[in-house]
Amino acid sequence: MCRLSTLAVAALTLTQSYSPASARDLRASKVFHNARQVEGEYDYVIVGGGTAGLTVADRLTEDGKTTVLVLEYGQLSNSTSITTVQGGFMGMSDTSLLYDITSVPQVNLRNRTTAVLAGKVVGGSSAVNAMMTVRGTAEDYDRWGSFFSNSSHWSWEGLLPYFKRALNFVPPDADVTKSANITYDTRFWGNTSGVYAGWPSFQYPGTTFHMEAFRGLPGVPFAPDSGSGKPGVYWYPTFMDPKRVLRSYARTGHYDGLNRANYHLATGSKVVRVLLNGTTATGVAFVQVGPGRPMANPGLETVVRARKEVILAAGAVHSPQILQLSGIGSSKLLASANITTVVDLPGVGQNFQDHPMISASFTFRNFTSTFNPSQEDLYTNRTFSTWSSTLWQTNRTGPNSIATGNAAAWLPFPVISPRWQDISHLLTTQNHTAHLPPGTDPSVAAGYRAQMLSYASALANNNTAFYNLVLTGGASNGILVDLHPLSRGTVNIDLRDPKGREPVVDYRALSNPLDAQIMADLIRFTRRYYLDNPLTASLAGRESQPGSAVQTDGEFRTFLEATLSPSEFHPAGTCAMMPRELGGVVDEELRVYGVEGLRVVDASVMPTLPGANTCQTVYAVAEKAADLIRYGAPTAMVE
Ligand SMILES: Cc1cc2nc3c(=O)[nH]c(=O)nc-3n(C[C@H](O)[C@H](O)[C@H](O)COP(=O)(O)OP(=O)(O)OC[C@H]3O[C@@H](n4cnc5c(N)ncnc54)[C@H](O)[C@@H]3O)c2cc1C
Ligand SMILES: *[C@@H]1O[C@H](CO)[C@@H](O)[C@H](O)[C@H]1NC(C)=O
Ligand SMILES: *[C@@H]1O[C@H](CO)[C@@H](O)[C@H](O)[C@H]1NC(C)=O
Ligand SMILES: *[C@@H]1O[C@H](CO)[C@@H](O)[C@H](O)[C@H]1NC(C)=O
Ligand SMILES: *[C@@H]1O[C@H](CO)[C@@H](O)[C@H](O)[C@H]1NC(C)=O
Ligand SMILES: *[C@@H]1O[C@H](CO)[C@@H](O)[C@H](O)[C@H]1NC(C)=O
Ligand SMILES: *[C@@H]1O[C@H](CO)[C@@H](O)[C@H](O)[C@H]1NC(C)=O
Ligand SMILES: *[C@@H]1O[C@H](CO)[C@@H](O)[C@H](O)[C@H]1NC(C)=O
Ligand SMILES: *[C@@H]1O[C@H](CO)[C@@H](O)[C@H](O)[C@H]1NC(C)=O
Ligand SMILES: *[C@@H]1O[C@H](CO)[C@@H](O)[C@H](O)[C@H]1NC(C)=O
Ligand SMILES: *[C@@H]1O[C@H](CO)[C@@H](O)[C@H](O)[C@H]1NC(C)=O
Ligand SMILES: *[C@@H]1O[C@H](CO)[C@@H](O)[C@H](O)[C@H]1NC(C)=O
Ligand SMILES: *[C@@H]1O[C@H](CO)[C@@H](O)[C@H](O)[C@H]1NC(C)=O
Repeated sequence: MCRLSTLAVAALTLTQSYSPASARDLRASKVFHNARQVEGEYDYVIVGGGTAGLTVADRLTEDGKTTVLVLEYGQLSNSTSITTVQGGFMGMSDTSLLYDITSVPQVNLRNRTTAVLAGKVVGGSSAVNAMMTVRGTAEDYDRWGSFFSNSSHWSWEGLLPYFKRALNFVPPDADVTKSANITYDTRFWGNTSGVYAGWPSFQYPGTTFHMEAFRGLPGVPFAPDSGSGKPGVYWYPTFMDPKRVLRSYARTGHYDGLNRANYHLATGSKVVRVLLNGTTATGVAFVQVGPGRPMANPGLETVVRARKEVILAAGAVHSPQILQLSGIGSSKLLASANITTVVDLPGVGQNFQDHPMISASFTFRNFTSTFNPSQEDLYTNRTFSTWSSTLWQTNRTGPNSIATGNAAAWLPFPVISPRWQDISHLLTTQNHTAHLPPGTDPSVAAGYRAQMLSYASALANNNTAFYNLVLTGGASNGILVDLHPLSRGTVNIDLRDPKGREPVVDYRALSNPLDAQIMADLIRFTRRYYLDNPLTASLAGRESQPGSAVQTDGEFRTFLEATLSPSEFHPAGTCAMMPRELGGVVDEELRVYGVEGLRVVDASVMPTLPGANTCQTVYAVAEKAADLIRYGAPTAMVE
């Protein structure tokens, strides 16, 4: 088959006469993207070849019979910014792999805007993320089911088999395990997935110290494994293939090398809406997009039919946009966009959550003189950096095999804050609706209230982590994160051009005033760890941000307004799995309310964020969804 250049194909696509339901246009896209021949009809059409989309596609096609088409906006990319493990940040700095979206000005953050990062490539955000491999606590997942009933299969017990199926855990090297005092427990892991949870072949001695130093503060728990469902200080792996020492992600685990005739992927394909016959999803319409920008002619739509189901897996920023463009969403919003309402579902695009990152900055002045080597030596010590490079080049081992590190503290609120009872009480009694956008539908407000009451109870127990400090093995602290923000944002179509423009992303950071008080306590606790801790005293800790002038809640709020980042790139919640009367968008089988043959499977279904980076949870949700789709039940529970 001849290979056409990008331009030639673009020209061909735009000039050929076009009949909507035919596959002719797709043959061009097949050559262009070197993909398999796309048919006019499949059993399942999956929108988005990202973390969840490729996982579901792999599982549904395992039988060799079920036909699946994945439509992905981005391309198959072999960029080293995806594969490189060292530092863990190359993917997120490569704009060619990311959507170009900026949040609206944050009114509580002095109108600052934030880059909304999400992967635009086969593999989605798993191709660009920082490779931290963690899951939430048991209570985080029990909370999901609790909004339905306390016997829901959405629970820690119900999800644990899928966490095990989702990743292939390869333990760390025995020598490193011993010298760094790494603990892990394989009972919480599986070893069959194509997506790996591996470990670097090196750890800085300071990392172990950072962990042990939490014993200087009373009551801090330690967990024996990152997958145990318990909060604490613990070690966790990296999304890395330990043999090749390359990023392991949805593409390498759930697409490359499968070569199944029943698994098709079309890249450069932007889905613009779900096709509905009445309230039954029958397929999707999509347009071809170039590697960089959409190709003009918006009228040139291709249609592909789904015999069984359409599965939305476009991520928490784009799945609600596609629903709204298809007439599924708040009828008020759709009316102002001149879109005919098919199902009035006010929760679509609401309940938006992400993990805020707090700009606290502490340094141990005596760290590098105490711990040798330390992370800083990579940049300041030629002997050490040369040794590291040589190790890497000859054996792919050493410090360059570390992504963003493997240790952190994930702590419950009563452990870090002396006023946990007060904050919990304030959250119980506040007027929850007052912190949502004016005009929020009563069902969405009722769901928010249910979430806040669940959080009020979590703030007063030791089963949910609110505090996250990433430990670096260097003199300076890693990121400090609020794991359970109370504020809720929105992701809605842009009324200026609903189909053409990216959705409008509003984090609404700090809109619930208790968030600032909780975050003040997260900083105060970090202060204690660095400055008022017998185990760190000899290291001469220093605080550069916010600085000792910041003491009262009011001063902390001012500091947060000036510095808070509302996102750790973990968008979630915009197609929430909640009862419909609580503003939910999907039911416990992840089916969109009021529509036949349409599910959502991605980070947008999480009703509340887990107290952890989100990727591992997305894989587990997708594994479970695949069973719900193919067997009608979560079969792994009875295995
Ligand atoms: C920079 C960054 C760093 C992160 N760091 C970590 C980390 O260290 N650890 C961790 O656990 N989590 C991390 N995360 C979060 C984690 O990667 C995501 O939560 C997870 O990958 C989301 O999976 P998803 O399936 O919901 O969406 P995605 O994986 O983003 O998949 C959505 C896919 O849909 C495609 N798509 C969107 N719209 C359309 C359309 N209209 N038509 C066709 N295709 C479409 C997208 O191109 C994409 O491929 C990070 C995320 C980012 C962005
Ligand atoms: C990208 O990598 C895949 C898998 O290793 C390989 O088959 C393919 O030829 C590569 N593509 C390019 C353009 O290098
Ligand atoms: C933020 O923008 C809004 C709307 O433009 C404006 O009313 C407000 O004064 C601005 N706030 C600050 C702190 O600049
Ligand atoms: C689940 O249990 C909790 C705690 O016992 C209770 O508060 C909640 O109302 C229950 N949920 C449902 C839906 O019954
Ligand atoms: C190693 O870890 C164990 C268990 O967490 C702890 O009790 C011990 O003090 C640690 N030892 C060192 C040297 O850090
Ligand atoms: C995989 O896990 C099973 C069950 O825990 C275990 O028996 C087996 O030894 C593991 N295999 C490898 C290669 O680690
Ligand atoms: C939480 O843990 C702390 C520290 O161990 C302890 O003092 C407190 O009693 C616990 N709180 C609850 C509600 O269990
Ligand atoms: C729409 O559904 C109706 C009722 O099931 C059916 O008769 C009709 O053929 C369908 N139309 C299309 C275009 O699929
Ligand atoms: C909706 O239609 C009205 C009347 O034709 C028009 O003025 C308005 O701009 C349209 N809005 C959108 C978002 O297209
Ligand atoms: C630089 O690194 C080498 C190798 O780790 C070490 O022996 C040496 O002490 C370091 N030098 C300084 C100044 O820290
Ligand atoms: C690479 O690994 C081999 C085998 O383990 C070892 O003999 C060699 O010293 C290593 N090379 C470097 C530069 O450490
Ligand atoms: C709570 O806030 C909402 C929205 O601001 C308001 O309409 C309602 O009256 C308030 N309820 C109470 C009891 O103050
Ligand atoms: C830090 O190191 C310096 C130089 O070794 C030493 O004089 C000082 O006492 C140390 N600081 C603390 C708090 O131990």
